[in-house]
Amino acid sequence: MTPKLLLAIESSCDETAAAVLGDDLSVRSNIVLSQDEIHAPYGGVVPELASRQHIRSIAPVVRESLAAAGVGLDEIDRFAVTQGPGLIGSLLVGLSFAKGLAYYYAKPLIGIDHVQAHIEAVALERARIEYPALALIVSGGHTSLYLLKEKLSYALAGRTRDDAAGEALDKIAKFLGLGYPGGPVIQRLGEAGDPSRFEFALPRMSDRSLDFSFSGLKTAALRIIRENGVTKEAANLADFLASFESAVVRALLGNFFRGADELDPKTLILCGGVARNKRLRMEFERRARAAGLSALVPSPKLCTDNAAMVGALAWARIGAGSGSGTDAGPVLDLDAYPRL
Ligand code: KG4
Ligand code: ZN
Repeated sequence: MTPKLLLAIESSCDETAAAVLGDDLSVRSNIVLSQDEIHAPYGGVVPELASRQHIRSIAPVVRESLAAAGVGLDEIDRFAVTQGPGLIGSLLVGLSFAKGLAYYYAKPLIGIDHVQAHIEAVALERARIEYPALALIVSGGHTSLYLLKEKLSYALAGRTRDDAAGEALDKIAKFLGLGYPGGPVIQRLGEAGDPSRFEFALPRMSDRSLDFSFSGLKTAALRIIRENGVTKEAANLADFLASFESAVVRALLGNFFRGADELDPKTLILCGGVARNKRLRMEFERRARAAGLSALVPSPKLCTDNAAMVGALAWARIGAGSGSGTDAGPVLDLDAYPRL
């Protein structure tokens, strides 16, 4: 029997993405068009520019995903789209486009949560997830810990009270004039640096919750920059970046593994754009091995925003019996949500 095909669309932030997936989770195509160049001069995503660019890119990206998969729109059985959280103007572009397709072709459209999709990225690589699982999603917009007691059940166990980890990396890179996105630049320029050269005190929640905070680390970074004359050209740049990156990694994993102690999961999942970071991946795997826990991280290209992860979650939800109908009502009722 030929597998059923799903077209997934993602436009929640600054990547326009479309993917075609079979119901066996085979990825037929996974096209991501980044807007990094557009936002780089501003050191961060400019929402108005992002949504305007999505409008320009969405049709070519969808067309390319179909061409790369070698299928036509009339062969697509289902549509899926990111509903939120994200930038509202950006979300609406993908959502409206997907609604149009589902309505015209009279096929079901399923709305997908972006954060949950990041977690589901591990399923694309045939990972066996044993439940309960504890997932840390860490990106430019989110730093959250979710406990999944079973498949598709998400309980928020901790979240950032201020900046997301990626946002802190992006802001420090912007301050030093290193470019956008900050995470990859900091990784590259700090690679040969000494991570123990500059000391950072790690945040600690007074209420012992599993929440994160990165504003203190950001303030400490700005103080160290000022006191030690760190600049783009200075000889101590690599040491500073390695020390800062390492502090962010310790802050993330400290909380993650404290959560693992308290919540006793069988599997740990690390995902989101910042999970591309080499230091974070290595340290995560080392600590999970030491704790005797199974550690899953998507391959780097599936960590940053993409539509294959949206498709993976859509198939999982369809398998579990959800998905909106083919009649105009449910398809057109789907609404975007900017926040959880
Ligand atoms: O998941 P994502 O593509 O978008 C959001 O949902 O936010 O994540 C983007 C974030 C940015 O903050 C970027 O600096 C960070 O991921 N990032 C990295 C690396 N690659 C991307 N952070 C650290 N190291 C990297 N190699
Ligand atoms: Zn994301």
